[in-house]
Amino acid sequence: MVISDGLKAAHGAVAAVVTPAHQSPLGMSLILPRRLALLDWAAKSKSWIIEDDYDGEYRYVSRPLPALKSLDRNGRVLYSGTFSKVLFPGLRLAYLVVPEDLVERFEHISQTLAGGSPELTQAIVTAFIKEGHVARHIQRMRKLYAQRRKATAIGLETVLGKHMSIASQPGGMHLILQLKNQQSDRLLSARMRESGLYAEALADWTMLSEAPAALLVNFTNIGSQSVAEHLAKRILQLM
Ligand SMILES: Cc1ncc(COP(=O)(O)O)c(C=O)c1O
Repeated sequence: MVISDGLKAAHGAVAAVVTPAHQSPLGMSLILPRRLALLDWAAKSKSWIIEDDYDGEYRYVSRPLPALKSLDRNGRVLYSGTFSKVLFPGLRLAYLVVPEDLVERFEHISQTLAGGSPELTQAIVTAFIKEGHVARHIQRMRKLYAQRRKATAIGLETVLGKHMSIASQPGGMHLILQLKNQQSDRLLSARMRESGLYAEALADWTMLSEAPAALLVNFTNIGSQSVAEHLAKRILQLM
């Protein structure tokens, strides 16, 4: 997010929803001067920053970045995280860290509006965290995903290098494949889905009328370079 552009585009904004660890879906991180500018805007205009940290644990180039929330001196950041990525999505468990004086209000709103999260599930996850299993699990998965990401990228590049290039990203759970030769990402992703493969088109994630064509593909369940090459050959046949 370019903060000055945001201010021009939405002058009276009361909140900004951001994904500073990894921009969704392109994966770049919000740099410190922009983080500070965003906090400054929120403090001066008494607006809110909703920090959606949906996969910040999975960063492969360095340690995970500190949350924007950790720089929040004026209590303007609402930090949300989820267990969907670090444990599994079927848990349906996420969390919101809010300024202390707002806890009661958020509890009330959450009890009124949210579907609720079973206390048993919460208690199990709490014990899992307290006993250190979650931290160990994240460390193990970060290593495994880094290997899988590399193997997938090499496998895809070996077969599809002429037709697409892989954007370098510091983290996340998917790769961005930038399509060359003016191919349509929507068309290719639709063909992939028809033949039992899954990818999303960047065009479906943007409000711009002309976005670069790219596919979003997950790599976390691709165990080796040869599996990636096999999948890439199937994609090649659909081009
Ligand atoms: C941008 C973004 N925010 C939040 C989430 C978390 O969603 P949930 O906790 O419902 O799985 C996701 C999941 O993919 C996401 O992509």
